[in-house]
Amino acid sequence: MRSRERRASTANVLVTGGAGYIGSHTVKALLDAGYNVVVLDDLSRGHPEFIPGVRLVIGELPDEGALADLFSETEFDAVLHFASESLVGESVRNPDKYFRRNVAGGISLMSAMVKAGVKKIVFSSSAAVYGDPESVPIPETAPLRPMSPYGESKVFVERALGWYDKAYGLQSVSLRYFNAAGADPSGRLGEDHDPETHLIPLVIRAALTGEPLTVFGNDYSTPDGTCIRDYIHVSDLAEAHVLALKALSEGLETTAVNIGTGRGFSVMEIISAVEEVSGKKVPYTMGPRRAGDPAILVAACDRASEALGWTPKHSSLREIVETAWRWHTRAT
Ligand SMILES: NC(=O)c1ccc[n+]([C@@H]2O[C@H](COP(=O)([O-])OP(=O)(O)OC[C@H]3O[C@@H](n4cnc5c(N)ncnc54)[C@H](O)[C@@H]3O)[C@@H](O)[C@H]2O)c1
Repeated sequence: MRSRERRASTANVLVTGGAGYIGSHTVKALLDAGYNVVVLDDLSRGHPEFIPGVRLVIGELPDEGALADLFSETEFDAVLHFASESLVGESVRNPDKYFRRNVAGGISLMSAMVKAGVKKIVFSSSAAVYGDPESVPIPETAPLRPMSPYGESKVFVERALGWYDKAYGLQSVSLRYFNAAGADPSGRLGEDHDPETHLIPLVIRAALTGEPLTVFGNDYSTPDGTCIRDYIHVSDLAEAHVLALKALSEGLETTAVNIGTGRGFSVMEIISAVEEVSGKKVPYTMGPRRAGDPAILVAACDRASEALGWTPKHSSLREIVETAWRWHTRAT
């Protein structure tokens, strides 16, 4: 058997989906914090140019053979699991893809970790686990009532992680992200989804191209009638992962933690913020509501500060929009 790679003074971390938007920002934060990183990504949506100099293993979850090879080559201390399909609408049309890649993918990863004796994992969960909440801000104790196969896949993996802890001692933190947004201040990394479904890049695209944005509903019970969401800067999100790893190594027990700011902004407020930062008018048309969009999703964030010592530092709407604008208008 080949000897497993290990650097004496540095923790080895496997990052699945590390070539994606949030994963690549987190890889940067991990490298800055001194971790040794290996990325597993099938590049279905990833960007290898976002992770220069990092070992990239091209492989698809749930490929158990690829995982077995990876875990036998390198002795990992922890895993950050970002790899996932993440389009809510697509998940309703094609649940099979979501259950195979997100659920079976998650299970094959946990199983490989158990076999290799790797005991710590940070999982990318989502506010989608809550569905349409009874009240906001939403605490982690709120009922889990996902409204799509995507949200269901996140709940399933979270629950499986709980059982893997009981049976095999796999410690986990499920970070329930609210709306990730913004870009690394360097302008080197940013949000590049295809198709793009997230509001801030779509508003920026409308400002740049003059093609009108569709606003899905202005008859919600919110001050201006449009939906309100909690936007969290991707660099703050990346830092939450580094702190979650540290907390796990200090003995934090398996838990789920909201990652948001506790403050929400409406679609119209986002449009105004983009107009202010860009100096351009954002053309838009009002469309009907989209099925399954709750009026307001805002996180209760006490657990993130208590369990992880995390507070957002870069998540003012201004900084989010400025960094996103810089990324989308970079010279290529
Ligand atoms: N972006 C958000 O606002 C947001 C909000 C809540 C939760 N999340 C979750 O955060 C994680 C990262 O999101 P993102 O926006 O960076 O997505 P992304 O699509 O940019 O990144 C996902 C990465 O995983 C890879 N991947 C996907 N399925 C894979 C598979 N089966 N095997 C191997 N690689 C695979 C893709 O190639 C991509 O590089 C996802 O789990 C997503 O569900 C994102």
